[in-house]
Amino acid sequence: MITGVGSARVRVLVIGSGGREHALVRGLLRDPSVAEVHAAPGNAGIAADVAAVHPVEATRPRAVADLAERITADLVVVGPEAPLVAGVADAVRVRGIACFGPSARAARLEGSKAFAKEIMAAAGVPTAMAVVCDTAAEVEDALDRFGPPYVVKNDGLASGKGVVVTDDRAAALAHAAACGRVVVEDYLDGPELSLFCVTDGETIVPLAPAQDFKRAYDGDHGPNTGGMGAYTPLPWAPPYLVDDVLERVVRPTIVEMRHRGAPYTGVLYAGLALTTRGVRVVEFNARFGDPETQAVLTRLGTPLGGLLGAAASGTLHNVPPLRWLHGATVVVVLAAGGYPSTPRAGDVIEGLDRAGAVEDVDVFHAGTRRDSSGRLVSSGGRVLSVAGSGANLAEARNRAYAAVREIRLDGGFYRIDIAEAASHDTVSVPALQSPRR
Ligand code: GLY
Repeated sequence: MITGVGSARVRVLVIGSGGREHALVRGLLRDPSVAEVHAAPGNAGIAADVAAVHPVEATRPRAVADLAERITADLVVVGPEAPLVAGVADAVRVRGIACFGPSARAARLEGSKAFAKEIMAAAGVPTAMAVVCDTAAEVEDALDRFGPPYVVKNDGLASGKGVVVTDDRAAALAHAAACGRVVVEDYLDGPELSLFCVTDGETIVPLAPAQDFKRAYDGDHGPNTGGMGAYTPLPWAPPYLVDDVLERVVRPTIVEMRHRGAPYTGVLYAGLALTTRGVRVVEFNARFGDPETQAVLTRLGTPLGGLLGAAASGTLHNVPPLRWLHGATVVVVLAAGGYPSTPRAGDVIEGLDRAGAVEDVDVFHAGTRRDSSGRLVSSGGRVLSVAGSGANLAEARNRAYAAVREIRLDGGFYRIDIAEAASHDTVSVPALQSPRR
């Protein structure tokens, strides 16, 4: 075991600056075994919670490893995908410091859609049929083969903007042309969900499944975003869902990665669709999802530092079964005007004290900073995520919306239908032919 992790009172460094990282920070601070949390680069909300934020670029492996060494971190938790693909986890581990997050080689599961498809094919993991395309002619053929709705994914990282799902063939072709190499896929019907599985490469611990809302506007209209809201648990999900995904999707993938000499540790985020033919993988991500993490970690009763530290040090088998708080959590994202294409910045944010005073509400910062006068202002597309918790989804939802209505941000907007169908039990789930192969 790496010194520090597993022993009392550790110092943790969190890398990233979004709502997901703020939820990680809050979760770590609730863990009595965590003495101190640092962050780089963080945001205004993270800065208010942690011992120190450090102006280090998250995607520079050496700079992050130097910082971890300088502050004598016992554990580094890497939030976003870009630092993982850049090799931050490798650089930190080389210094003998435990790191939660996959190596650059393993993070290719998110970094290249084509690589992920190759791994899924080798491991027999159910996913959409797909064609990797390098030329416009190949894209045209693939669109003809699958028909609308067209699904075109940038092969590489694109900060949540790499996927277009559209009935408009010209828009699908234009997206492909802008990306270069793309993966064109068959469209998967049925509701989507996110399952985060924490792993040390051997033991796999699934968290509670969640659903996010990727379109910008109510009724699933408008452009794709990083995510406008989320909730957990999923009352409509079949009871065997998590076990089924573990056995048919996550475990075979982890085994295949090990066989390829790229053992996977950290969190494997399986983006799934519940189709008439059973569960299918939409995509893999090498990190926690945003904003689902804000919902899932708000409910997690198990100490987070212990869980992530055990994954980082290969001792996950020692972690007792997870405990959950609250019946449900609903997260509503407040976005800046113009998001996702041209988000406004520099608008003053007010009302956070009133929002935070609503019972069982947590407000996580993403695109926020302090201006030269010390005022809290927006600095990114997704500005805040407001999490309401309660005995059930209806109560959690009421609290989240009561809080978000207290916040003032010029031009800001949020969806009003997050978790609405689930709270009324009207999510339409296809009749599954069979949960097994
Ligand atoms: N919520 C979608 C993502 O994190 O990619």
